[in-house]
Amino acid sequence: MPTILREDTLTFTYKQKKAENSYVEMTPFSVYDEEQYIKTAMLPQEALAQYIKAQHRLDPIFDNDHGKEYSYAREIIFPKSRKGSNKGFANRAGDKLDEILQVSKVKLKTDIQFADVCAAPGAWSLYLLQYYGSARGVGMSMPILGTKVEDTWYPQLRQNPRFKATFGVTETGDVYDFRNIAELAKVCSQSWGEPTPAVASPPENLLEAKPEILPSGLLDLVTCDGGFQIAKSPTGQHCEQLQEIITQRLLLSEFLVALQLLKENGTFVCKMYDCICPFNVQLIFLMSQMFEETVFVKPEHSRVVNAEKYVVFKSFQPQSSIIEKIKQIHAEWKADTCYYQIIEESEELKQFCVFVNRVNETLVKRCTDALNVVIDKTEELVRQKANPVIKQTDPSAPQTNQKSDEKEWNDIFKKDEPRDYYRDQRPYYNRRDNNYRRDDRREYNDRNQYYK
Ligand SMILES: C[S@@+](CC[C@H](N)C(=O)[O-])C[C@H]1O[C@@H](n2cnc3c(N)ncnc32)[C@H](O)[C@@H]1O
Repeated sequence: MPTILREDTLTFTYKQKKAENSYVEMTPFSVYDEEQYIKTAMLPQEALAQYIKAQHRLDPIFDNDHGKEYSYAREIIFPKSRKGSNKGFANRAGDKLDEILQVSKVKLKTDIQFADVCAAPGAWSLYLLQYYGSARGVGMSMPILGTKVEDTWYPQLRQNPRFKATFGVTETGDVYDFRNIAELAKVCSQSWGEPTPAVASPPENLLEAKPEILPSGLLDLVTCDGGFQIAKSPTGQHCEQLQEIITQRLLLSEFLVALQLLKENGTFVCKMYDCICPFNVQLIFLMSQMFEETVFVKPEHSRVVNAEKYVVFKSFQPQSSIIEKIKQIHAEWKADTCYYQIIEESEELKQFCVFVNRVNETLVKRCTDALNVVIDKTEELVRQKANPVIKQTDPSAPQTNQKSDEKEWNDIFKKDEPRDYYRDQRPYYNRRDNNYRRDDRREYNDRNQYYK
């Protein structure tokens, strides 16, 4: 077992290097093609095998409905990334954005105009409106799973006159559909008092969209925090280990929003998952050529046990050839497919890969170790639940009296909370729930086993 697994914030900075990009013919492959993913992954095979193995250890835990034990184990070992905000924001996402902007040293004016995409229920927008006193923002998102459309956004956001929301032309808020991105651009343009675009509805094929119906260069900041629960494959297999390629299309769509809407020198903050497959590495490399600085951030409020991280692109300098290529890839994308490669190797790409390898060596290793520690603890909890005698005779178990244990087990295992949008974020309990205050000491003792 690793001795130190800290929830420290990690940042990695890459300075812009322009390159002559030579594009390759792109062949799609299925997002369920694990063999192809593994074969092409830019990670030492042993590290990747350990990482995937750790992720698969979660499968029986969730199949046997032990998600609550998993969440409990995770939250006592990694308390900083518990559900809910520690800083008084609407949810934990608010804490993350606060940290991301600070550590990546993003400087914004108080009257920024922003778009917040894949953004429901809206802690990021609330944060921006609160901290940048004259900021104005437009949000677009699919609703959180299990939420009614009218409840997509927090009520205080819906009531804020400096915020507008759109679900785009399709009324789903889906960022995969370019018409929704065009509609978002239109709402931003109208909201900022710029001339209204002449044509109401953009064509389905974005490559046919004329500039006058597609306003660009409008915003100081674009933020995207897209994520969704990874469903099983059509043949019933767990696919969480393929999250990176399953979310490829989401990442590309979010990048396109930024390229379409950002002003020169604008800032773009985007959630991403692993950066192991050549497509993602090359896509970020292309983006990095249009920004002065690219910063990867793993905030302390983002769970160590998941691949989520954030990429901050600072100071936008558009390059039309790259933007046109990204538009073309977006326009041609087919459902349930992903891609292997976009460009030929170059000296600059090689250097970028060295940078990305450094990020991966640190984050993938930490994530693998963290998963194993949390799963070991989960399995121990599951055994204890099945046979409470083991718990009482285990000399390493924390010393607590039986009455309080009974109450705790009842609270832990009987409390029925709605499921969140993906595996690592299934909520388990709310930190502010008074029932749990009393048990903090026990959690502290438990946790100390891991923080020697
Ligand atoms: C982690 S949540 C965002 C949390 C948000 N940043 C906040 O501060 O409250 C991820 C969001 O991405 C949205 N999403 C996922 N796929 C999407 C898509 N294709 N188009 C638009 N939104 C999407 C989900 O519905 C969810 O609202």
